[in-house]
Formats: sequence, structure tokens, C-alpha cells
Amino acid sequence: MTSWVQRLSERDRLGLLTLAPILALLMLLIALPPDGSERAQWVQFIGRFHPLAVHLPIGLIVLVPILELVGRSARFSYLHPSAGFVLGLTTAGTIAAATLGWCLARSGGYSGPLVTQHMWGGLSLSVLCWICWMARGRFEVGRFGLLYPLVLTMTIAVMTWTGYRGGQLVRGEDHLTEVMPGGMRKLLGVSVPLRMTAASSAGTFYGARIEPIFAAHCITCHGSTKHKSNLRLDSYGSLIRGGKHGPVVKAKDLRGSELFRRISLPATDDDFMPKQGKRPLSVDEVKLIELWIAAGASDSLAVDAITNAPAQTTAAAEVTFEKFDAAEVARQRATLAPSVAKLQKQYPNILEYESRGSANFVVNASLLGDRFRDADLEALGAVADRVVVADFSRTGITDHSAPVIARMKRLRVLRLVDTKITDVTGRVFGQLDQLESLSVFGTGITSATLPTVAQLPKLRHLYVGETTIRADGSIPDALKGKVLF
Ligand code: HEC
Repeated sequence: MTSWVQRLSERDRLGLLTLAPILALLMLLIALPPDGSERAQWVQFIGRFHPLAVHLPIGLIVLVPILELVGRSARFSYLHPSAGFVLGLTTAGTIAAATLGWCLARSGGYSGPLVTQHMWGGLSLSVLCWICWMARGRFEVGRFGLLYPLVLTMTIAVMTWTGYRGGQLVRGEDHLTEVMPGGMRKLLGVSVPLRMTAASSAGTFYGARIEPIFAAHCITCHGSTKHKSNLRLDSYGSLIRGGKHGPVVKAKDLRGSELFRRISLPATDDDFMPKQGKRPLSVDEVKLIELWIAAGASDSLAVDAITNAPAQTTAAAEVTFEKFDAAEVARQRATLAPSVAKLQKQYPNILEYESRGSANFVVNASLLGDRFRDADLEALGAVADRVVVADFSRTGITDHSAPVIARMKRLRVLRLVDTKITDVTGRVFGQLDQLESLSVFGTGITSATLPTVAQLPKLRHLYVGETTIRADGSIPDALKGKVLF
């Protein structure tokens, strides 16, 4: 018995085989669409090759009509048959590119209509290429004579549209229109891009005071390349449009403004922004955003319109310094390298640089629990003056560690939850004048330490739950509104 498969031509057999990955991909896209959350590292890694892989099928598909047309002339007739081969290759290329694209989209930060459209565009392309490949040379005459040229035209149109959507994903929605010459812009009825209006508005409160805050703290995750929760904070337009749950800023409505809620939560809250232990906004920065929303959250408000706005903060100056002086950071890191290498070996995962652009450290010893003791903290003393965030919660440290803590002069966040420390350690808090958040939850700290802490100029949050401190007259005025139980 000759099976029907054997009767098929080689191309048809290959074509059938190719249907399998296309269907598998279809299933993947339906079952596991991009949802913005981060995935395993290997998915992220493979996904990074998507931008590279997409260019092959784009180039190939354009070649097909050229081969078809040029192949019609007697001189180039030998080119004509190769169009079929190129179509097969294009189909395979689109499947590979779409699969990598899915990996990239699944690796986090991508969700929302733009990525969904781009994704389905990619899959449709695989299908269209496949149809072209199969239809070519089959329905040359009769009722279906136009099928192949029509589908091929459609394929190229979809390829163009999908590529454009991809460009928007990577470079921002206005990546083409941003630099479009004025005349052409008028002709096509394209409005002036929002990014441009914002940039030229340094005289406005938004341009001068608000946008720089987002630029320094938020756009690594809410910018043109990543837009977590489909929220971008790199232009006024996208800020106002909001994220996947709608607007995040409501004029004159602080309570209704999700963005404000997120930045004013305790830093330990899951919803707190910036996420992942990134440096929190300073008190002044939060205040600026608060005043701006209360004043109507407009992009045209004059820079000096809000009279009680905090002056330019030193924190902002620090950020710019850290951000731009890469050579200085490299030099400082080189000096520290031997001690850091030793410590990281001795205490894996405890000590990390704050960010790529910083020679400061984040220490999280809470992972080790009570195996981490005073002697261990003593060892970390080698880098004490560079620690900016430290969590010693539930470790075995005691007041013997006070002198080392006192040397952590750059600390912005200090967590000592459920440790044995008492007011003896409390006395050294007064020397940590960069401190913005301090947690002594469940420790032996009493109200005797409060006057010391009240002196800290930048403190925003003091967590004192499960201590003997009560919400009564013992709280100094300077701490009012900052103490949390
Ligand atoms: C390290 C990455 C990162 C940084 C930096 C960051 N965010 Fe986010 N942001 C996320 C992620 C991830 C989500 C989605 C998960 C969630 O809702 O918590 C999110 C969600 C949000 C949302 C909710 C949007 C919605 O509609 O669901 C707001 C508002 C927000 N961020 C504001 C900010 C602000 C303001 C900053 C800067 C001060 C900031 N973020 C910095 C990662 C980040």
C-alpha cells in the first residue's frame, strides 16, 4: 500500500512538517502570553537573540518578489525556481524569530496591546509565508491564479507593520514620527510628539522638577526599553496615559493617584516603588510629586508656580554625580576589589553593589539568621563606610556591633528587626545622618533613643512595632508622622 505521504512531493512533505512548529507556537502564544513578569534566566538569554534573528526573514521576504519579477525575463530565468527555496527559508526564519520573540516577551517587562499586536503579527507572518510557499506554482492559472501574488503582497504588508510595531516596542511609540520633517508631518496629519514638547519645557514645573525624578529613579523599568506594567514615565503623555490598570496620576487627587500611593508606602511594602530595593525617593522628591499632583499635575504649570516646593535637593545632585562619573566609580571599585572579593567569598549573596553605576553596597545579612554574629559584622567593617542599605534583621548581632554600625556613615536604610540591640546601639544612630528609613521593630530600643533619632535630618520612616515605645507623649515633635508601629 502506498501511503498518501509517499505520494506527496518533497516540498509538501516539508510543508507538513513545518506546520508542527507553527501550531506549537500558536499554542504557546495562547496558553502563555507575555504578562510582564520575569522568567528563568535561560528564557531571557535566548530571547535576547530575537532582534538579531528578525532581520533574516525580513530580508528574505523582500527578495521573493524580486526573484519572481526578474526571473520572468529570459536573461534571469534561472533565478525563478529559487524563489520557492527562499520562501521555505523565510518560513523557517519567521518561525525561529517568532519563537525567540516569545521568549523575549516572556522574560518580563512586556505586556499590553503593543507587544500583543507585534506577537500576533509575527505568528501571522509564519502562516502567511507558509501559505505563499505552498501556493507557489500550484495555482498559477484559473480561478486561483491571483492567490499567490495576493498572499505574497499581504505577507510583505504584514511584515512591514509587524516590524514597525517591533520598532515602537524598542524605540518608543514615536520612533518614526519623532524626527519626521515638519512638512511631511503636516501632510500625514501626525501630531508633534509628546517627548519633544516635554523636553523643550524646562521652564515648567513638570520639566524642571518632576521629570528628572522619574529619569533618575524610574525609567530603567518604566522607560522605552522596559515598561513594567505597561507604564512609561519618560514623557508626560505616557505618564498621564498610565499603565495596564489605567491612569496612575489623577489631577488634584492624591488618594486616587496610584503613583503617589506607590512612592509613599513603607519601603518594605511589596507595592513600593522603585522596586527591587532600588534607592527610594527622598523626602523632598516625594513632596515635589505630591505638590505637583495637588496642583493639577499639568505639564504647563510654571516652574515657580508652587511657592512652598522644596528647593533643589542635594539627593538629586548626588544621583547625577553617581550617574555620570563612571571613571570615579571604577577607581573606587578597584580600590575596594580585594576586600570585596574576600567578603563575597566568605559571605555569598550578602554583599552586593547598589547598582552598576555605584561603588556603594547593599548588605542583606538577614538571610543568614542568627548564624550571622557580631564577629561577622566586624568582618564587613572593611567596607562599612560604603554601605548604603543594610538589613541585619533576625541576625545574632548585639550591642557589640554598635561601633561598626556607627562607621556606616552613608546608610540610608537600616533594618535591625528582631535583634538583641538596645539603646546602647541606639546612641550611635545619631551619627548616621543620611538615614532615611530605620527599623528597630522587636528590639530592646526604648523611647530613650527617640531624641537621638529625632536629630536625623533625612529620616522619613521609623518602625518601632513590638518595642516598649508607645504612640503617646514620648514621641518628639520632629518624629511626628514618621513613626510607624
Ligand atoms: C526595578 C524595576 C522598577 C523600578 C526602578 C520602578 N518600578 Fe514601578 N513597577 C515595576 C514592576 C515590575 C511593576 C509591576 C508590578 C507591580 O505592580 O508591583 C511596577 C508597577 C508600577 C506602578 C503600577 C502601574 C499599574 O498601572 O499597574 C506604578 C504606578 C509604578 N510602578 C511607579 C513607579 C515609579 C514612580 C517609579 C520610580 C520612583 C518606579 N515605578 C520604579 C518595576 C519598577
